[in-house]
Amino acid sequence: MQTVPSILITGANRGIGRELALCCAKNNWSTHATFRTSPPATSSEIDYFQMDVTLENQVCDAMAALKEKMGHLDVLVHNAGVFPEPTDAPFDALKPEWWEQTYQTHVLGAFYVIKAALPLLRKSTSPRIVNLSSGASSITQRSGRRYAYGASKAALNHLTRGLAQEWEHEGICVVALSPGWVKTDMGGSKAELEPSQAASDLERTLRQLNISHSGKFLDRFGKEGVYHW
Ligand SMILES: NC(=O)c1ccc[n+]([C@@H]2O[C@H](COP(=O)([O-])OP(=O)(O)OC[C@H]3O[C@@H](n4cnc5c(N)ncnc54)[C@H](OP(=O)(O)O)[C@@H]3O)[C@@H](O)[C@H]2O)c1
Repeated sequence: MQTVPSILITGANRGIGRELALCCAKNNWSTHATFRTSPPATSSEIDYFQMDVTLENQVCDAMAALKEKMGHLDVLVHNAGVFPEPTDAPFDALKPEWWEQTYQTHVLGAFYVIKAALPLLRKSTSPRIVNLSSGASSITQRSGRRYAYGASKAALNHLTRGLAQEWEHEGICVVALSPGWVKTDMGGSKAELEPSQAASDLERTLRQLNISHSGKFLDRFGKEGVYHW
């Protein structure tokens, strides 16, 4: 008998995280998701926890609640993200709070969430950690401005690679993954992809991820080489 895989998605009250949670629930994952201030109105098939990823106590409380219910976790998706700066802001117009918000959410948030989830992931037979990255993180393909957002996602990529190396012997798969340009509050209305399309491609990739992918920077189809570190 096939067991139902379990997943936890951060920042899932709207945008890509919300669509991914809906898609996972529809495809028979045991689906757990987090919100910062209030859960979406219809979420009966999704188990929601409150979690501001920048607050370590809240992250630990949510993970303790998940442990009570599940005892293990197969897939962690660190999706919570912010893009506070105007995309064309020049360096001398950058505000310190944009650096703080992006680093706190993407880097410190990843540290809190992954650290708290680790004991649950270690109980899985196929543990996978997926950090939502972006083409804007790339150093080798750098273009445009987006300094705070891009640098914070590059730092998240660095963490991803490091953890993949540290945990390879334990069989924990850790990847960076870019969802593509998606029509959300962050991506804007001119983006290429509907959130439901991005979520459906992502869900398929999450199911197929294994230790052979660890340490890679993937696109939403699980393909390497589209995005570069
Ligand atoms: N959309 C794109 O084209 C695109 C492209 C490349 C990468 N990405 C990445 O994909 C991920 C999702 O993006 P999106 O387009 O869905 O963005 P979005 O529509 O702006 O949604 C962002 C989500 O993150 C949550 N969040 C922000 N800060 C948080 C915090 N401190 N604690 C917990 N949750 C927090 C938000 O919750 P609140 O409602 O409480 O603010 C919201 O649920 C992000 O990591 C983003 O960088 C997106």
